Amino acid sequence: MDSTKITAPIAKIPTPLVRLYHPLFEWHGVNVWIKRDDLNHPVIQGNKWHKLKYNLAAAKQQQKTALLTFGGAYSNHIAATAYAAQLYGFESIGFIRGDELAQQTDKWSHTLKAAAENGMQLHFLSRQNYRLKQSADFLAKLATDFPHAAILPEGGSNELALQGVGELMAEIEAQLPAWTHLYCAVGTGGTFSGLVKHAPQSHATERHIYGVAVLANATYLLPQIHEWIGPQATVQWQLLDNHHAGGYGKLPAALQQFKQEMEARWQIPLDPVYNTKMLHAFFSELQSGRLPAGAEVVLLHSGGLQGNSQL
Ligand SMILES: Cc1ncc(COP(=O)(O)O)c(C=O)c1O
Repeated sequence: MDSTKITAPIAKIPTPLVRLYHPLFEWHGVNVWIKRDDLNHPVIQGNKWHKLKYNLAAAKQQQKTALLTFGGAYSNHIAATAYAAQLYGFESIGFIRGDELAQQTDKWSHTLKAAAENGMQLHFLSRQNYRLKQSADFLAKLATDFPHAAILPEGGSNELALQGVGELMAEIEAQLPAWTHLYCAVGTGGTFSGLVKHAPQSHATERHIYGVAVLANATYLLPQIHEWIGPQATVQWQLLDNHHAGGYGKLPAALQQFKQEMEARWQIPLDPVYNTKMLHAFFSELQSGRLPAGAEVVLLHSGGLQGNSQL
């Protein structure tokens, strides 16, 4: 690795911002756009590219030769890290939640199989041990055991990830300077925090960014989100914590139908874990009258389409 510059593996940047039409939008007098960040790459897709970009550059700069990270069996971040590691010349090591999978390769998800095919060395942790992944002792041990590895947190969310998400915010700002409301899905909160932190103030209007939590009891994320955003946010923001539909990875029949209807209406594929819930939350907010007439709404499609292979 002779350079620390990370060049995008993709040509399509900025990703398109596409206008969406629906009778309800007309009825409520709002204009709606979708930021097709799912089109940036088939695997290092959507927010994953933005979150990994500066982490890859830092790992090169520190002359690390491996990326080590954490995730569940269906994690988009695991899939993207394995692929990006191979593309940029790193080894990859994944610590996966669920030690029952260690002996049962036949039960591996599409995600785990693809990660392994891309060279990721998989280690399985019991659910109890997996919870230690952020503890100082556990991380210190990993740093000793894998001195050649850059350690990325679950979901790849850290300060460098937020910096990359800042570039996504800049794309949206350039494409639609008049935006007033922005919706995104929240897993760890890194993407949401990066958008809020880097959203420019508009002198014409108040701006709102809503993060739709896809997991239950998401308020535990708030201290970390506050820390990431810092005291300087120039936009209003809120974590919406009642649109998880039963919890992470749960997609009740009504939401499955909603997903299919929206995909057919706009010919835009949605992932089952993040963006279906984000879009559904937006519809429910719109119907409850939360959005003022004249709102210019951007929905961030953050990718995750590899999740459809598990359905
Ligand atoms: C497709 C997709 N969208 C959104 C998110 C949520 O991002 P974050 O973890 O930064 O909140 C994730 C997961 O990390 C994801 O895979």
